Amino acid sequence: MELNGKRVTLGVSGGIAAYKAAELVRLLVREGASVRVAMSEAATHFVTPTTFQALSGNPVSVDQWDAGVANGMAHIQLSREADVLLIAPASADFLAKAVSGIADNLLTTLTLARDCPLLVAPAMNRQMWNNPATRRNIATLTGDAVGILGPASGEQACGESGLGRMLEPEEIVEELIAHFQPKPLKGRKVLMTAGPTFEAIDPVRGLTNLSSGKMGFAVARAAREAGAEVTLVCGPVALPTPRGVTRIDVCGALEMHARVMRLAATQDVFIGVAAVADYRPRIVSEQKIKKEDNPPPLIELVQNPDILAEVAALAHPPLCVGFAAETRNLAEYAEKKRRAKKIPLIAGNLVQDGFGGSANTLILFDEHGQQVLEPAPKLALARRLIARVAVLLENPHAPH
Ligand code: PMT
Repeated sequence: MELNGKRVTLGVSGGIAAYKAAELVRLLVREGASVRVAMSEAATHFVTPTTFQALSGNPVSVDQWDAGVANGMAHIQLSREADVLLIAPASADFLAKAVSGIADNLLTTLTLARDCPLLVAPAMNRQMWNNPATRRNIATLTGDAVGILGPASGEQACGESGLGRMLEPEEIVEELIAHFQPKPLKGRKVLMTAGPTFEAIDPVRGLTNLSSGKMGFAVARAAREAGAEVTLVCGPVALPTPRGVTRIDVCGALEMHARVMRLAATQDVFIGVAAVADYRPRIVSEQKIKKEDNPPPLIELVQNPDILAEVAALAHPPLCVGFAAETRNLAEYAEKKRRAKKIPLIAGNLVQDGFGGSANTLILFDEHGQQVLEPAPKLALARRLIARVAVLLENPHAPH
């Protein structure tokens, strides 16, 4: 329950994407948020207030002159009771009014009268989105510290395709969760690796391992939530990219090495979560190796470059963080790797805890010794790791 105790006022403006706001309310409530919905009159033509009332468990406001509100000021009450005002969908008309401070209905009045942060999820036809007026409005709202969520590109209700679709409800919830996280890495650049590597033997076979990418993707999400600009170089994994993270897909260790080294010198932090193959076949067969080929082929292996050690050896390296997965002697082996790679911090985990699942147990090793992080979901551990990274960026010798 990532939004436990958070009070969200959801403003629904008129547009076909209003139907997605119903699912959004369901997801927000599932994450523990208390949701109050305010609708524009136009929005009621797409979804009824009853739907939102049933999903949120709270009365829905449409009319700013709502007699049911004790002081007759629904706009003030809805804003004072909220930790965030989220407008989804936000129509072009709503955005234009918000820019000018027009307050001619409940949503716009609420927006003007608020004393909490405002996030908007625009939804409109691609030409309306690309219109210079909307571009100007978005620039002004950004300058006014309004969070702009999306929009996404794709098929639109009008039959056209392009930028202007409202983000999916799951994506908006992820953005909202990120909104509430502290931002100690604001303005920082974080480069990461995640997942396994795949070392080809022939066109259909290869050497790989059981890394799912979940730990690395959780760290990428946590770093982005903390305000960093995150680039994630990942081996073959079937996971959705965390919102706002730049993803570079690679296959083998050589490719991962090349992509990382191209970017490493300009980063503040490098975190190697990937389970990089130490070896690759010396020769990759161009043709599929046939069973009939006798005798059975011997695969000669050569060593892959150590990406983390190379980044740490740069003249001006970013703050380097490693991971170590061991089946035994975790403390001894993890600390040995930390020293060998000359990095300030390594996160150790047992193979049986770390690989594949959604939870993990991490022990952080640094110059002060070890810090055990209790078993927890990978995202929770990732946030703790990122908090430690942020501290070390400010003071490389900070105690636990
Ligand atoms: O993906 P999941 O299923 O969620 O699992 C997560 C994980 C168990 C893979 C992850 O938590 C983890 O422990 N990753 C490191 C695995 C490991 O043991 O790596 P290593 O001991 O081979 O390497 C140590 C460090 O050097 C790692 O940071 C690794 O990314 C880096 N390395 C290793 C070899 C190499 N050629 N280049 C590297 O950069």
